[in-house]
Amino acid sequence: MTALLEADGLVKRFPATRSLFGRPTAFVRAVESVSFSVKAGETLALVGESGCGKSTVSRLALRLIEPDAGAIRFEGRDLLALTATELRAFRRKAQLIFQDPYASLNPRMTVGQVLAEPLALHNLVPASARRERVEQILRMVGLEPRVARRYPHEFSGGQRQRIAIARALAVEPKLIICDEPVSALDVSIRSQILNLLRDLQQRLGLAYIFVSHDLAVVKHIADRVAVMNLGQIVETAATDALFAAPRHPYTRALLSAIPVPKPQAKRSRIVLQGELPSALNPPTGCRFHSRCAYVVERCRVEGPALIADSTGHATACHRVAELPPADAVVPHDGGFSPALEKLVAAFSLSTEGPARGGVDIVSASPRAGA
Ligand SMILES: Nc1ncnc2c1ncn2[C@@H]1O[C@H](COP(=O)(O)OP(=O)(O)O)[C@@H](O)[C@H]1O
Ligand code: SF4
Ligand SMILES: [Mg+2]
Repeated sequence: MTALLEADGLVKRFPATRSLFGRPTAFVRAVESVSFSVKAGETLALVGESGCGKSTVSRLALRLIEPDAGAIRFEGRDLLALTATELRAFRRKAQLIFQDPYASLNPRMTVGQVLAEPLALHNLVPASARRERVEQILRMVGLEPRVARRYPHEFSGGQRQRIAIARALAVEPKLIICDEPVSALDVSIRSQILNLLRDLQQRLGLAYIFVSHDLAVVKHIADRVAVMNLGQIVETAATDALFAAPRHPYTRALLSAIPVPKPQAKRSRIVLQGELPSALNPPTGCRFHSRCAYVVERCRVEGPALIADSTGHATACHRVAELPPADAVVPHDGGFSPALEKLVAAFSLSTEGPARGGVDIVSASPRAGA
């Protein structure tokens, strides 16, 4: 199947400091050569620590900001070459949902007005049929039609996210980019919203780019996962394949921080060493090298390419073929094979019980001698 959205070699740098005359003197290298694609009806998750460039990629993919280099195609068309009219049509087909729906909902408009506005703007439904359409959309997201008369502040966080989803759905999009859509919600509400998103996807054939720092959530919802570190994709694979056998040392560290469902199934947590480097001054070569237990000289000078195997599982690591098997690194029962002695020595490990929730990668103090 051809891709709905394709990003190819996206680069984005933001000016960080400027000279007296306003010329940028340093740049945040937020996104560096990022490529991915999403098919119709599919969910691609973008995961990684805060600041790794997930939101920037999302905004680039919707052309809300312009890339410094690279290409984006939607339904085979070059997004960067669209006319203003074509761009408006694209904006209907690709929507964005944020972490904080309150910030994106006009507090002075009723929910009915919020939902009717895009219908009018894109001339989708005749004025006489708008009210009925609004009620229909509200029902789709599990809200009573009568809430159309109320204002955003009258709702809870979970209900507001339902309203934001309803607004995105109003224009009958093909793609929704969900940027941390459940991160601000109570755990009890999260699964309701995730189930709603999944249900809507099945009914409407939507594609999602699902941005999250929380791999437990991603495992639930994504068909494929792209793991980002410091503005680059370091590994991408089908969700099951990635969780069963993560290959990149960074992915392994991320996965080791997911809470284990069974308390007795203790798992060793890989605590990353070294400071989290800054996108202002990223490490040379492999951008993970200052935190990687397997670093060799080549890693410091040469950035690894993202190379896919025959199954489409792609990894950007010079040493991927030499690493110990992943199931040994992320043991299910807390046990370690003797072959892992070196790895255990290189990483600082703790074998505490289930983590609190979400992914929390710990940056310990720099390794002695590193
Ligand atoms: N408008 C901007 N101006 C300057 N720096 C930015 C801007 N937007 C994002 N950044 C920087 O780009 C990097 C990536 O940010 P972001 O895409 O928001 O990451 P994430 O969504 O993964 O947390 C960060 O270092 C962030 O500080
Ligand atoms: S390329 Fe080198 S530093 Fe980067 S992840 Fe692989 S082994 Fe580690
Ligand atoms: Mg973000």
